[in-house]
Amino acid sequence: MLTFSINQREKEGRMAGRLEVITGPMYAGKTEELLRRVQRCRIAGKMVVAFKPGIDTRYSPTNIVTHNQRELPCWVLPRDFSFTDLIVRYPEIKKAEVIAFDEAQFFGLQFPEICEGLVEMGKRVIVAGLDLDFKGDPFGPIPNLLALADEVLKLTAVCQKCGNLATRTQRLIGGKPAPKNAPVIQVGGKETYEARCRDCWEKPT
Ligand code: ADP
Ligand code: TMP
Ligand code: MG
Repeated sequence: MLTFSINQREKEGRMAGRLEVITGPMYAGKTEELLRRVQRCRIAGKMVVAFKPGIDTRYSPTNIVTHNQRELPCWVLPRDFSFTDLIVRYPEIKKAEVIAFDEAQFFGLQFPEICEGLVEMGKRVIVAGLDLDFKGDPFGPIPNLLALADEVLKLTAVCQKCGNLATRTQRLIGGKPAPKNAPVIQVGGKETYEARCRDCWEKPT
């Protein structure tokens, strides 16, 4: 049966699609890893298209940017975009072999299904996003995406209090943990957020 489906794909000239998810807390190197994979695809002569949500204006409105200033030009999508919007608005997707998305925690709950649709078209889909918000709760569409993924890479940062492996992100207001009733979405960097290990992370109250 497996052999049959591989042959079937070959006959149809289609590549086998794949969903890869890179996750972890802030500063873990998610965007660096996304850019590394994109760079290797380009070395291999593959066409790549990259997207991020428009809300991420932290370092640039038009580029995916790492905390150490590496950049990749991308297109910007609204939170609730649909599969049809994507295909109609960006016909380049039909030719591309690889589709990359950064900051995917900001997309709506439709996002995993859209990734599945792209995989079904034979695309290699590479997604980076936060697994947990500042309260320690699973963030937006990422939990479902992790369940659907063919490969998950969970990265750690360096705890900014003790230097151990950080798996969580602390949002700070005036040096103190932000309260649990603060809005989940707040774009920011070092002025607002620290990477923390389980022991140093304080659950918002
Ligand atoms: P992410 O997208 O996961 O937030 P980036 O890929 O944009 O992370 O940036 C990772 C880079 O951030 C690291 O290579 C390092 O230079 C820098 N950095 C800053 N603070 C930390 C930290 N606490 N732990 C690890 N790396 C950090
Ligand atoms: P990063 O993972 O590339 O560092 O970016 C994470 C972005 O998510 C950054 O703009 C801050 C934002 N964010 C929230 O909006 N809510 C949260 O609870 C956390 C932890 C981060
Ligand atoms: Mg990032």
